[in-house]
Amino acid sequence: MSQFFALTLAHVRRDTPDSMVLTLNVPHEHRARFAHRAGQHLTLRAWVDGQELRRSYSLCNVQGDGSPQLAIKRIADGQFSQWAHRHLQAGAVIEAMPPTGSFGLESPCGAPRHHVAFAAGSGITPILSILETALRDEPTSRFTLVYGNRDLASVQFRERLCQLKNTYLTRLSIFHFFSNEPQDVELFSGRLDERRCGSLLTSCVQVSTIDHVYLCGPAAMMKGVSSALLAKGFPAGRIRQERFGTDPAVRPPSSVTVSASGVQLTVRIDGATRRLRLASGASSLLDSMLAAGLAPPYSCKAGVCGTCRCKVLEGEVQMQSPHALGPSEVAQGYVLACMSSVQSPTLELAFD
Ligand SMILES: Cc1cc2nc3c(=O)[nH]c(=O)nc-3n(C[C@H](O)[C@H](O)[C@H](O)COP(=O)(O)OP(=O)(O)OC[C@H]3O[C@@H](n4cnc5c(N)ncnc54)[C@H](O)[C@@H]3O)c2cc1C
Ligand code: FES
Repeated sequence: MSQFFALTLAHVRRDTPDSMVLTLNVPHEHRARFAHRAGQHLTLRAWVDGQELRRSYSLCNVQGDGSPQLAIKRIADGQFSQWAHRHLQAGAVIEAMPPTGSFGLESPCGAPRHHVAFAAGSGITPILSILETALRDEPTSRFTLVYGNRDLASVQFRERLCQLKNTYLTRLSIFHFFSNEPQDVELFSGRLDERRCGSLLTSCVQVSTIDHVYLCGPAAMMKGVSSALLAKGFPAGRIRQERFGTDPAVRPPSSVTVSASGVQLTVRIDGATRRLRLASGASSLLDSMLAAGLAPPYSCKAGVCGTCRCKVLEGEVQMQSPHALGPSEVAQGYVLACMSSVQSPTLELAFD
C-alpha cells in the first residue's frame, strides 16, 4: 500500500518572485490523517522526466486548520522546485504523504512563555506555523521572530507577518535582517550570523527572558545562532532545530553482511505485518527493504527529514547521523532506516 494520497491544489499563490504558496484540498475522509502539529512537514511526490522525485515541505499554516499550506522556494537547478514552479497551479493534483516530524512547540506548561525563533529564507515555513499556533493557543505567552533574508522583496509571507503583528501587537516582536539591502540600524544590515545574533541578544532580546528557541534555515545560520545563544548561557536542551538540507559529510551506512543467508525481517507498515528475508548488499536498511519490494515511507534518503523513522522492536541496527531524531526518540529505540545498517541476523521493526 502506498502512503501517498492524490490531493487537488485549492489555491496557488506567488508570494515572492521565487516562492509560491500552495493550499491542498483534503477530502473529508482524510482530514484526520492530514491534521498536522505546528512544525511538521509532509512529503510531495512527482515524476519528472520519468524520474520519481520526493521532497519534504513544512506546513506553514496554523495547527488545526484543515487545509494544509506549503511554500516552495525555487532553487537554482533544483529539480523539484523548478518543476513545481513551472507546473503547479490551482486544480492540479499532487501526491502527498500525511504530515510527520517532531520539530514543533514545546508542550504548554500553563505559565506564560517567551518563544524565540530564528529563521532564514524558506526556513520561515515551520516557524510561521509554530508562531501562529503559540500566539493563538497561549494567550499570555509572547513570541519573538528574528528573520534573515537577502532583501525586503525576498521576505516570504511579508503580508501575513504584518497582519499577525497587527493582531498580536504587544505579544509579537519581529526583527528583520537583510544581507543585501542596507537598513537604518546597522545591526540589521548583513547576514544573521553569530556576531549579529550575539549583539541582538545583548541589545534587543534578553536571554534570561527566553523559554524556548526554534531554529530553521541554512546550516551556517543555525550554527552561528546556536553558538551565540550557548555563549550567553542559554541551555542547549531548550533549542529545537529543523534542517532542510543534507550534510555532504554524512553518507548512508555501508552494507554489512551479518549472515550469508541474509536477515530475517519482520516489519509492520500501514497496519500490516510482513515477514521476509533481506538480502545483504544494499547500503542501508531502507534500500534493502525497497530492494525486497517493501514500500516503507521515505523522502530525503539522507537522514534529514525523518520520514523513514521506525522503531526497532527486536534485533540490532547501527545508525549514523540521527539529525532528524530527538534524544528521547533515540532512547525509545527509534531509528532512521535510511541511515541504518542491520547488525543482527533477525530484526523486527514497526513504521506505524
Ligand atoms: C523537513 C524538511 C522541510 C522542508 N521544508 C521546505 C519548505 O517549507 N520550503 C522549501 O522551499 N523547501 C523545504 N525543504 C527543502 C525541500 O525538501 C527541497 O530540498 C528543496 O525544495 C530543493 O529541492 P529541489 O529538488 O528543487 O533541489 P535539488 O535538485 O534536490 O537540489 C538542488 C541543490 O539545492 C540545494 N538545496 C536544497 N534545499 C535548499 C534550500 N532550501 N536552499 C538552498 N539550497 C537548497 C541542495 O542541497 C542541492 O545542492 C525542506 C526539507 C526538509 C528536509
Ligand atoms: S528518508 Fe529522510 S531521514 Fe530517512
